[in-house]
Amino acid sequence: MIRINENYTKLQASYLFSEIARRVRAYQAENPGKNVVRLGIGDVTEPLPPACVGALHAAVDEMAARESFRGYGPEQGYDFLREAIAKNDYQSRGAAIEADEVFVSDGSKCDTANVQEIFADKLTIAIPDPVYPVYVDTNVMAGRTGKHSKGRYKGLAYLECTEANGFVPAPPPEPVDLIYLCFPNNPTGATATREQLAAWVDYARTNKALILFDAAYEAFIRDPSLPRSIYEIEGAREVAIEFRSFSKTAGFTGTRCAFTVVPKALHGYTKKGEAVPLHPLWTRRHTTKFNGVSYPIQRAAEAVYSDEGRAQATALTDFYLANAAVIRATLAELGYTVTGGDNSPYVWVNVGKDSWKFFDKLLKRAQVVVTPGAGFGRCGQGYIRISAFNSRENVEEGMRRIRKVLK
Ligand code: MLT
Repeated sequence: MIRINENYTKLQASYLFSEIARRVRAYQAENPGKNVVRLGIGDVTEPLPPACVGALHAAVDEMAARESFRGYGPEQGYDFLREAIAKNDYQSRGAAIEADEVFVSDGSKCDTANVQEIFADKLTIAIPDPVYPVYVDTNVMAGRTGKHSKGRYKGLAYLECTEANGFVPAPPPEPVDLIYLCFPNNPTGATATREQLAAWVDYARTNKALILFDAAYEAFIRDPSLPRSIYEIEGAREVAIEFRSFSKTAGFTGTRCAFTVVPKALHGYTKKGEAVPLHPLWTRRHTTKFNGVSYPIQRAAEAVYSDEGRAQATALTDFYLANAAVIRATLAELGYTVTGGDNSPYVWVNVGKDSWKFFDKLLKRAQVVVTPGAGFGRCGQGYIRISAFNSRENVEEGMRRIRKVLK
């Protein structure tokens, strides 16, 4: 008799963005011909930067000739990309990250989901609320939580992110082992200052804890005083893994390329308290379960660091930030309290009532899709998240419709 992993039965029925897609499909089936504006899932709409497209074409041509054809590449990524990342994203900002500490992958969703495999079954895990649901669900699947009740899983230490703390949680008074942080934040759009991140790094060092720092949205930071990487904070190399992605930075959601940084200075501990470096554990996991991102896609990602690539990628994030400004201004004008959207592509709006009801109202009356805050956790109840990833035309049309319905 094949037994199932019963932890899966603790999960909520479907993944948040699948549930939203299901509701939108059902609405469209009942209302054919209604044109829906999608400001829900954070999926890019603008084409890849021309520098990336050029590199992609050239790499495809290499694959077409016997002399330059490549089969399996290194699982952790080609040196040309790992070196470009270490130099441009870290060393240039004073963060001592080496190329062999960078693991290229097919997405931060997968990496933030998979990383928990290298840690013990029993851990105290601190998870912000609201939060990107992948962090929670993958720990549920792995059996690190109890049952779900009243919007929360038993056994997790929730870090409440509210208007009172500016959606940036402070370290808890009690010790925890594993901490998930994401800045600029998905879903609230909040950013963390150097001092706030330094408090977390200190806490992790004191408690021999580990921070999983999701920096997938760092390219949207415009305020020069904000850190873009946790490794800009002294001591973070010893207590943090960082995740980054080309998805939102350069429009790679459909082409897939991201990376995870696991510094060699990081350690976990055995039951007996012996320190074990994490870099070889992640190397073992990654090389066993992953065969690398395709060569043409890695060449396209490398092109993001060329002079034209950098300018074109910045123009893309500027474009989405300008959309976010339109969204912010509209909702503020309608009298709602808004967070995010200035150093982030997400605008978090306090709608003061049931998030899913508000979602349904906007879908049915304005034909605009947003993300209900409650889908990100109990503290998200009463909020919606509006994504700035769309064409200017669609954002403006969406805001026109929202204005009409909410006025
Ligand atoms: C989101 O909308 O939160 C993101 O698109 C999800 C993701 O990047 O996986």
